[in-house]
Amino acid sequence: MSTLQDKINNYRQLFFDRAAAVKESQQVEELRQLFLGRKKGYLTLLFEEFKNLSPEEKKTAGRVLNEFKTEIQSKLSELEKNFPVSGTITPIEDLTLPGRQLYWGAPHPITLFERKIENIFISMGFSVEEGPEIETDYYNFEALNFPPDHPARDSWDTLYINDKLLLRTHTSPVQIRVMEKKKPPLRIIIPGRVFRRETPDPTHLPMFYQVEGLVVDKGITFAHLKGTLEFFLKALFGEKIRLRFRPSFFPFTEPSAEVDIECIVCRGQNPECRVCGGSGWKEILGSGMVDPQVFKNVNIDPEIYSGWAFGLGIDRTAMFAFQIPEMRYFYENDLRFIRQFNRK
Ligand code: DAH
Repeated sequence: MSTLQDKINNYRQLFFDRAAAVKESQQVEELRQLFLGRKKGYLTLLFEEFKNLSPEEKKTAGRVLNEFKTEIQSKLSELEKNFPVSGTITPIEDLTLPGRQLYWGAPHPITLFERKIENIFISMGFSVEEGPEIETDYYNFEALNFPPDHPARDSWDTLYINDKLLLRTHTSPVQIRVMEKKKPPLRIIIPGRVFRRETPDPTHLPMFYQVEGLVVDKGITFAHLKGTLEFFLKALFGEKIRLRFRPSFFPFTEPSAEVDIECIVCRGQNPECRVCGGSGWKEILGSGMVDPQVFKNVNIDPEIYSGWAFGLGIDRTAMFAFQIPEMRYFYENDLRFIRQFNRK
């Protein structure tokens, strides 16, 4: 034991002499190696010797050794602070390396299609409006002339948040919000997300996109509705596309019409066509002349003003235009799918 203590005393002397002589960071590292080096460090060797001591001797020896170790370590870290490592070699950037390839993002097909629609309407002098996805019963239904408990509400399977709030089932409530704030003449489109209590299948999802249109001015007639929608659909699907207007019913328009476009896959030539079911037509939007009651609800005088409106399913129409068999593909975020729409 005394020999171990002697050795420690000698080593301590040596260590502090060396420590006092340190002039640069490299010497600190050398000193560390000399004492704490993994194989041949003096202290490491002392710990080796320690293993051979009797249990009795180990008690004191262990304490003394550990104290010495702490002494060494704290002095070393003090030295490291005083002689910080400097002049480390920083690798120089290799300017001859080729650049890392940047990943180019791409707009989602729904976004692309929505922009296409917006641009056609913007070219006709429409402006783009937006509204909230969480709505009140008043805007989603009542102001649009759906009285409470009216059976027409059943056509819109609604996701309710509570008694008063719901997820909007269509973009039509934004017509009301805009007419409350802005006076005619109005020429607007309203793209946005809508929600319905639907079980997902290839052509239905509980969330999808619509675009709403509204025109209000003096002297607006059904001819404006027909002419504008025809111009729009020809701009979207090509000059040659044929359209058909079918009488329909919506509480907020009177009269109302649904618009079908000719099936671009079979042109009515295939009775087994999977896209149009053999009918040759594809329904893509609802429209009509704004019901006088809707104008009254927003304090616009229906004796002075008239207007027309439409609502189109963006996903559905995009599926048809791009011939995509599954609506779900739009929302799976598979880049292999999304990138296909951005080839120039
Ligand atoms: N909001 C209707 C729907 O979701 C679509 C619609 C029909 C909108 C006629 C209109 C309209 O503005 O005039 O089924």
